[in-house]
Amino acid sequence: MDKDIAKIRTEFPILKTKVNDEVLIYFDNAASSQMPLSVSRKIFDFDQNYRANVHRGLHTLGMQATNRYEKARHHVRNFINAQKDCEVIFTSGCTDSLNLVANSYGEVNIHAGDEIVVSIMEHHSNLLCWQQLAQRKHAKLRFIELDQDQKLDLADAKKKISPKTKIVAITHVSNVLGGINPLKELAKLAHQNNAIIVADGAQAVGHFEVDVQDLDVDFYAFSGHKMFGPNGIGVLYGKRSLLEKMPPYRLGGEMIENVTRTQASWADLPQKFEAGTPNISGAIGLDAAIDFIEDIGLKKMHTHDIEMRRYLLDQLKKIADLKIYGPKNDTGAISLVSFNLSGIHPHDVASALDLEGIEVRAGHHCAQPLMQELGVESTLRASLAIYNTTQEIDKFIQALTQIKEFFENGIR
Ligand code: ALA
Repeated sequence: MDKDIAKIRTEFPILKTKVNDEVLIYFDNAASSQMPLSVSRKIFDFDQNYRANVHRGLHTLGMQATNRYEKARHHVRNFINAQKDCEVIFTSGCTDSLNLVANSYGEVNIHAGDEIVVSIMEHHSNLLCWQQLAQRKHAKLRFIELDQDQKLDLADAKKKISPKTKIVAITHVSNVLGGINPLKELAKLAHQNNAIIVADGAQAVGHFEVDVQDLDVDFYAFSGHKMFGPNGIGVLYGKRSLLEKMPPYRLGGEMIENVTRTQASWADLPQKFEAGTPNISGAIGLDAAIDFIEDIGLKKMHTHDIEMRRYLLDQLKKIADLKIYGPKNDTGAISLVSFNLSGIHPHDVASALDLEGIEVRAGHHCAQPLMQELGVESTLRASLAIYNTTQEIDKFIQALTQIKEFFENGIR
């Protein structure tokens, strides 16, 4: 095992635990990655040493908590290269961020006859809010289809994105297929047609560099728990000029400027979109997760991703009657592969792998329209992270081969 990876693994004690008497092999990172000790320690430090609410009390702990919360925002801004701190809104996760855009920007800017363009590979988080918005407003939802390699079909995007389009909402990386979508080109296409572009970055951030200014996206959403951070914290990046014009999505404490019996005016960004007590420890944990990623370096993260994908694909291709979904090459995609074994239900395979201590996801992955397109109800999905190794892939392949033999011939 690579020495650096061995060192990284020491930050994740869970990787030494046993599941069903076998050492855990965690291949469900696209659902939630594991959290390093450094992140847990920062959250513990907040809870034990300076826990207080933010932007309220003038007391020492309150100010300390506020400073750390705002430091986290500044770190996120630098990490994604936003222009201003106020363009970083803390949310409860990627789903919440996308709902915020649909229910605030979308509610005001979508009218009857307008078109919203998504892709067929969207996670329900980046589909349902647009589908329902389109229904409410009598707008049309259009889908960019897959090309022959099951990547996003850019030629089709050029047909679907038109002067009628008002919003393009696209995932940066598919949570089922693993392919990295050409977000910069899509942003250009959207802007040429006077539309805005919203990106779901849940499977991208932490895998490779994301520069929102270079991509020229209008909104970019992601979650902490898929990038070695805690649950319940997410980010919505939005261009300041757009966020400033948008109405608040949630109403309550700390998002106002002034309130009377009958009227209210709103606080400036970012508070306008952060009603109520935010997830303070979550933001502090996210800050620490970014430290963790930056200490390793996004180049190394990306290289490891490509190496793991290559090795995983090469090994999976050796198993007969195994169908792989998504791009078949090792570049332009992250280390996430969906597949099925012919004639064996993915849930049975996942349960059998679990008995060997190997955790993968089986199901429709909250992407039912994509499943319909692929002609299946569900798939198995192995999704790897920086701490996963080729040795783990070998054990996974061995287990998969034995499970296949068992289901086919009853031999194990
Ligand atoms: N969106 C997460 C996944 O793809 C939960 O597994």
